[in-house]
Amino acid sequence: MNLLIMGPPGAGKGTQAEVLVKELGIVHISTGDMFRNAIKDGTEMGMKAKEYMDKGELVPDEVVIGMVKERIGFADCENGFLLDGFPRTVEQAQALDVSLEELNIKLDGVINIVVPEEKLMARLTGRRVCKGCGASYHVIFNPPKTEAVCNSCRGELYQRSDDNEESVGTRLRAYQDKTQPLIEYYKKKGYLVNVDGDQDIDLVLKSILEAFAK
Ligand code: AP5
Ligand code: MG
Ligand code: ZN
Repeated sequence: MNLLIMGPPGAGKGTQAEVLVKELGIVHISTGDMFRNAIKDGTEMGMKAKEYMDKGELVPDEVVIGMVKERIGFADCENGFLLDGFPRTVEQAQALDVSLEELNIKLDGVINIVVPEEKLMARLTGRRVCKGCGASYHVIFNPPKTEAVCNSCRGELYQRSDDNEESVGTRLRAYQDKTQPLIEYYKKKGYLVNVDGDQDIDLVLKSILEAFAK
């Protein structure tokens, strides 16, 4: 199964993706995680992306498109993938259409997680992420069993450098201006599945699985 997961910053894309890929036996491709790994490795691409990410701005299309195009051609995508955080602009969506056609891959659906905007700031400023496996937690809404330690890999939790009020504000505006038009784009193609993301984490997962259990 080949899926996209969309939604504003803090909607719960990463949280849902982590469990969904295990349930469906597919790979998780998060462009945000790919950039954060490149930053950790100190690559040239990572350093370039960091300038944009810290401010909350989108990384230029040509950088992201090339990276994803290469990634979806890897052998581990043969059983399916879940793209998280890509596409984020109409240009990226059009480039994805071309790449999928070249690879003879069909999309099975686009999951759009819907959350009221006023809930997003608190989700993001309270988020903590595992250094080891990238799992997302929240100091109030989804705390780890032991403070600052990941439940699954015992890794240390940290706060993302773009999870501050100023960067979040810019990320929300970038979402509204550049990414929201993709809802209509995928609706027209008949791929869009809206899921209520303003409910408990396990209920969001249940809604997603129900939509694709055929
Ligand atoms: P990226 O890493 O994709 O960040 P984002 O889109 O801003 O989304 P987040 O990861 O912040 O949110 P999420 O929906 O995954 O939420 P999560 O599940 O963690 O991108 C970062 C940056 O990289 C971009 O700003 C840009 O610079 C660059 N970039 C990446 N892709 C790009 C692209 N294609 N083009 C250009 N630039 C790109 O949950 C958030 C919090 O809420 C957690 O604390 C979680 O525990 C909590 N939570 C989750 N679900 C619930 C729930 N149901 N109830 C209560 N709390 C919940
Ligand atoms: Mg994420
Ligand atoms: Zn972990």
